[in-house]
Amino acid sequence: MAIERTFSIIKPDAVAKNHIGAIYNRFESAGLKIIASKMVHLSKEQAEGFYAEHSARPFFGALVSFMTSGPVMVQVLEGENAVLANREIMGATNPAEAARGTLRADYAASIDENAVHGSDAVESAAREIAYFFSAEEVCQRTR
Ligand code: PPS
Repeated sequence: MAIERTFSIIKPDAVAKNHIGAIYNRFESAGLKIIASKMVHLSKEQAEGFYAEHSARPFFGALVSFMTSGPVMVQVLEGENAVLANREIMGATNPAEAARGTLRADYAASIDENAVHGSDAVESAAREIAYFFSAEEVCQRTR
């Protein structure tokens, strides 16, 4: 089992509905450790940069508008196979297809406002962590 880091966002819809604590509980109950965390209200430029790979998609403008509509929580999660573990905790992108008990099944209203983001690979996790956190902001947890 590999100890990995992954990047996570609690999106504006879930922050607005006061689901931060419940979502953190899911991460910690699954054995993932929160090793960096902050609340940020993304600028248009920050959101466009983060989602740059989707800039040609028809939903890009709506995605940027949604992600800048209110504050988000950004965090780094660490644990065994953290990338896949977090994807399983989140459920499918479209909440209508998300498995029971996943975050998107429980907290997301639609594919456009789907509560959480999680990195899809170790490489993208490293890039996304560096987009939001300096090295000093990411803690080493030895216990
Ligand atoms: S895809 O279709 O597999 O490429 O989509 P995916 O890479 O999973 O997600 C792309 C991000 O855009 C968000 N988003 C949407 N995706 C698909 N359709 C619609 N209408 C849509 N609206 C927004 C989706 O949640 C992904 O964002 P993150 O933050 O990565 O979850």
